[in-house]
Amino acid sequence: MLKTKIAVLVSGGGTNLQAIIDAQASGIIQSGEIVLVASNKRNAYGLTRAENAGISTYIMDTEDNLISKLQEAGVELVVLAGFLKILSPTFIKAFENHIINIHPSLIPSFCGDGFYGLHVHEKALEYGVKVTGATVHFVNEITDGGKIIAQKAVDILDGDTPEVLQKRVMEQAEWILLPQAVEKISKEIMESK
Ligand code: GRF
Repeated sequence: MLKTKIAVLVSGGGTNLQAIIDAQASGIIQSGEIVLVASNKRNAYGLTRAENAGISTYIMDTEDNLISKLQEAGVELVVLAGFLKILSPTFIKAFENHIINIHPSLIPSFCGDGFYGLHVHEKALEYGVKVTGATVHFVNEITDGGKIIAQKAVDILDGDTPEVLQKRVMEQAEWILLPQAVEKISKEIMESK
């Protein structure tokens, strides 16, 4: 069976992208392959990670051009991995039910507009919750509002700073959960062809 063609969209460091690249190399991801890494930021380190892994890269200008680029590459699954740009309804329509995102909290807590990056962890600490985590979900028009695919809980410890908590959520949840979810959805797409 033909593997699902995956594009990963990044804006920053790309540690989640790296987790997917590593999972592909180790066999955790078998049903899909990354064919393109795209970014809205020219200097995103994620692009360097892609180049180091021999994966084609693309710097987006307009969303319409990105849609064309992804369609030309035959992309069937779009993975948002620290992509800090809200996608338009046109983009979402073009890849309906084929876009997934990783969010660093247990949705529906600490999500929606303005909850990105360190802010998510700041808010969790401010509120005083004792457990947080990460969520992989489908992307629809509502920010962080699509159907949940997978979640993993992470303990908050006394004395945590947003930075310390962010790192723990990545290590204990995001970098494990995202590759597993990418495999699950890639397999479903592959088997539906
Ligand atoms: C991660 O915490 C992800 O959940 C969030 O943005 C961060 C991206 O980190 N959406 P990286 O670029 O994958 O290192």
